[in-house]
Amino acid sequence: MLRVINVVGARPNFMKIAPVIDEMRRRSDRIEPLLVHTGQHYDESMSDAFFADLQIPRPDINLEVGSGTHSEQIARVMLAFEQVLLAHPADWVVVVGDVNSTMAAAIVAARMLVPVAHVEAGLRSRDRTMPEEINRLVTDALANLLLTPSRDANENLIREGIEPGKIRFVGNVMIDTLFRSLDRARGSKILERLKLEPGQFCAMTLHRPSNVDDKATLSGILNALESIGARLPIVFPVHPRTRERLQQFELSERVRKQTSLVLTEPLGYLDFLKLYSNSRLVLTDSGGIQEETTALGIPCLTLRENTERPITVTEGTNRVVGNNPENIKREALAALDRGAASPRMPELWDGNAAVRIVDAIEEFSRR
Ligand code: UD1
Repeated sequence: MLRVINVVGARPNFMKIAPVIDEMRRRSDRIEPLLVHTGQHYDESMSDAFFADLQIPRPDINLEVGSGTHSEQIARVMLAFEQVLLAHPADWVVVVGDVNSTMAAAIVAARMLVPVAHVEAGLRSRDRTMPEEINRLVTDALANLLLTPSRDANENLIREGIEPGKIRFVGNVMIDTLFRSLDRARGSKILERLKLEPGQFCAMTLHRPSNVDDKATLSGILNALESIGARLPIVFPVHPRTRERLQQFELSERVRKQTSLVLTEPLGYLDFLKLYSNSRLVLTDSGGIQEETTALGIPCLTLRENTERPITVTEGTNRVVGNNPENIKREALAALDRGAASPRMPELWDGNAAVRIVDAIEEFSRR
């Protein structure tokens, strides 16, 4: 029996682990999966709603680390996860994505000589001011099995000297979840609730420190939204970090008065899928949404200086536009004029990544 500890912590982890856990449970004669939630995200809207929407089993263990500075959060995950590994000897630790919990769990496992499999290995923005880039570099340096979503990720890893035998190109596991959820998302009533017509609005998410932690940058983005909003309303589910910054910078009132902005609390997976899949244009600084819009052919503007997911630009519907207000405005109005995009679906974004991931874990265990 293969004992596998799967670790999640923050919102973008949940859609990546869901199909993996599902596949492991399908092989319950050979695999015994345990699910550990670090508690990095803990609000109902940032965590529980996703477990319900994605039909993920309740975590076996919740470490309840909560918020803090990066080092506090990482240290708390490490202390608590060490105890988990002591109490539950494991054959593998599976970590996903690039959040603080991902790296912290990988460090602990590597220290305790438990093999680490990293789902979504090899993505690089080459921007070390992003905490996620450090998380990716460290996690990949320690992982025993590097499961990549696209071929550019393999190239990045090989360039960093990772042994090619440890790398497996398995495709994009988020797309497994996306395909499996489309039917159920059709039942979401979010458009009615927000009084929106399909194709008659933009959707936006914004939470990166580089966009929301500086008052001038954040108000510059709000300025750009005024011009875009004159064409089409912009639906904006507000991340807790962004809500706090808007309050701190005394911008909450201004945002509320911007009539073309439709503000909501963070949405669950199915509501958000229904929302952006019916939008005309998505503006985001998220990683995963760049991929989801590519898979569905929705035009996307990424409000960052770079992306760790270049395939969404070369083959998909994404454009990286930075956070200069004039640029955002020009690019958004041009995208609205251009209309629908004609993307290519990247290789192995086919809904079967989880099968290849669990196959690889089993195969590496036999070595
Ligand atoms: C984290 C990830 C980021 C990911 C994002 C998705 C890291 C370094 N960052 O950023 O890669 O894109 O999640 O959401 O791991 N908060 C709440 N409730 C919650 C969680 C957070 O109110 O459930 C607030 C707290 O004030 C907290 C702040 O949001 O201090 C930031 O949370 P944190 O987990 O540190 O980082 P995110 O910005 O969410």
